[in-house]
Parts: sequence; structure tokens; C-alpha cells
Amino acid sequence: MNIQQHVQLKPFNTLNLSAVASHYAQIQTEDHLLEALDYAERQKLNVLVLSGGSNMLLPEHIHALVLHMDIQGLDIIAEDDLTQTIAVGAGQIWHDFVLWTTSKNLFGLQNLALIPGLVGASPVQNIGAYGVEVGEFIDLVRVYDRQLKTFASITATDCQFSYRHSIFKDNPNRYIITQVNFKLLKKPDLKINYGDLKTAVGENKTAENLQNQVIHIRQSKLPDPNEYPNAGSFFKNPVICQAEYDQIAQLFPNLPHYPQANNQVKIAAGWLIDQAGWKGKKLDMVGMFHKQALVLVNYDNATLQHVKATYHAVQQDILNKFKIHLEPEPVLFDENGLLRSHHD
Ligand code: EPU
Repeated sequence: MNIQQHVQLKPFNTLNLSAVASHYAQIQTEDHLLEALDYAERQKLNVLVLSGGSNMLLPEHIHALVLHMDIQGLDIIAEDDLTQTIAVGAGQIWHDFVLWTTSKNLFGLQNLALIPGLVGASPVQNIGAYGVEVGEFIDLVRVYDRQLKTFASITATDCQFSYRHSIFKDNPNRYIITQVNFKLLKKPDLKINYGDLKTAVGENKTAENLQNQVIHIRQSKLPDPNEYPNAGSFFKNPVICQAEYDQIAQLFPNLPHYPQANNQVKIAAGWLIDQAGWKGKKLDMVGMFHKQALVLVNYDNATLQHVKATYHAVQQDILNKFKIHLEPEPVLFDENGLLRSHHD
């Protein structure tokens, strides 16, 4: 394993933010990971784990050891009448893995096609789309536990998956994910009730058609990061209590909303941003995408400062107009490679 110095991370984050890492290593095996962690400890460097870079906000200079996860592997490790369990290396490309499952007649992940990023990041924010969240199909997550200094397996229950959340978000510097085991269905149980997906799938209710329609809908709304650098949905859909929703609904009856458990209501951040006039609007070189207001795009050579200026302006406008706080979805790092709260 080779540690490089002064490495530009621009090609490795989908917002294309210029970010130079003082130290950088590609991690292809669990042994590489142990060697790199040992190096970081000896050199007194913080460690920043970089996966597909599709959900992160990086500063221009990072004094830390960046671990670029590239552990491969795709193995069927167990099977029963109803399911097959597949062990997947953290560095496998998520979308390619989804396509592979469909080609092998394994069901469950089709709604999550075309989500950018790598398999190892999928449990962290419990990626979800079109009525499915990845946590439903995870059996366990293999990690290196930096606190206990050992490899461990965390069961799906212990991952505590919820909307765009898991224990990995609560303990950001503790676990490094090396492998994810998925338990997939051998018989189709297609989830096609989500809005425009139902119409798109029509009568051809096969997993392959479902996957193709998801790809088609995403391509028609969401910008390709190669053309318009972005990090997917930039804000989470706010989850508010019913009483708060009832008040807002009196003023804005068309606000798209989705009832949740425990008397909560999820509301569409994209609609709020659109109504506030931000769809297709830019501040300097960063703006909200003209086909989906929830996606922030770097239109030129923006740095984190430009990104912050735009999203703070959006947050302020939404607060003024709707009295709702929008929480960014991507994670924010500081110059020492540590995760920072968006509230600081
Ligand atoms: N809307 C607008 N204007 C816009 C965008 C959306 O009015 O510019 C309205 C839509 O008409 C719709 C509602 O807002 O009534 C919701 O929009 P959409 O169905 O496109 O989904 P979303 O809430 O914007 C969420 C996820 C996406 C996921 C889609 C489909 C979050 C934060 N985002 O987006 O996830 O693909 O649903 O399931 O939960 C991601 O996390 O990066 C991501 C792309």
C-alpha cells in the first residue's frame, strides 16, 4: 500500500469541489486498511474515509489521511428457499451491483438503480428511492471498529436504519465499512406504488422493466454528475409533526406530503425550494437544478465557500417563507478531515 501526498480529490467527489489531501491511500484489502490506520496513528493524522464521493462537502485543503475505499468482491455466501445472501466489497459500484442482482433474478434493489456511489456507503445514510430503503435488504455490515480496534459484523437491527439515517451517522469516526451482506429475494415482490413509477411500469410488471423505468425517471429529472456536478438531493425532506403540518397546509394546501409513523408528516423539500423561486436559480456559480429544485449544482469551478453561500441563502429563504429549516443531506468535513455539523 502506497501513501501519496498532496492529492487532488476533485475527480473523486461528484460535486467536483477542488480539495487537496495532505495524505492519500487507496484501500484494496482489509490489510491495507490496517496498515493505513497504523500509519495515521504514527503520524498523528486524522482519517477521512472517501467512498464514491457522491454525498460529501470537502474544504479546499485537508490535513488528514484520506482512505479511498476500493475493496472489491461479490460472492454468494448463503441460500434458502426464499433468499440468497450476497457479500459485496465496499468498493463495488452501487449501480453495477444493482444491475447484477437483476441479471441473476434476485429481487429487492431494483428501485435503487442509478443511485451514484459505492456499496460501502449505502448503509451509512440508508439510501432510498421510490418507496424502498436499502436497510430492508441488508443482512449485516462488516466494519473495522476503530474504538475496539477489531473487525466486527453489525446486524441490520443494530444498524438502526431510519430515513437517511443509521448508527454510522451517529458514530461518524468509529466504523469503517469494508463489506455489506445483502439478503435478496428469489421471487419478485415489486414495489411500484410510488407516484409516477406506477404509471411508467404499467402492465409490464417485471423486475427488469421496473429497473429500467427507475433509470428512465432518474435520468429525466436528476442531472448526470459528469455534465452537472452535484450530490443528488441536497436537502432531506423535512419530517414535521402533524400539528405543524396542519398549520402550513392552511397557507399552502398543495404542499406534497407523506404521512409517517408516530403522527409525523414528511414534506417535499423540492416543492418548497421550487415555490421559493430557486428552481433554476444561481448565486454566482452554484445553483439549484432547473428540472429538480432539490439538487444543487456546481456550474463552474466552485469551492465549498460558494456552495455554502448558495445553500445558506436557500435555507434562509425557506425559513422566511415557510418557517421550515432545511437540513443538508451531504456530510460536511473540516480542514482536519473531521466531520462537522451543519449547525456550527
Ligand atoms: N417537486 C417540485 N419541484 C421540484 C422538485 C420536486 O414541486 O423542483 C415536488 C414533486 O412534484 C413531488 C415532490 O416535490 O410532488 C417530491 O419530488 P420527487 O418525487 O422528485 O422526490 P424528492 O422528494 O424530491 C426523494 C429523494 C430522492 C429519491 C426520490 C424518489 C430525498 C431527500 N430525496 O426526492 O433521493 O430519488 O425521492 O424516491 O429523500 C437522494 O437522496 O440523493 C435522492 C435523489
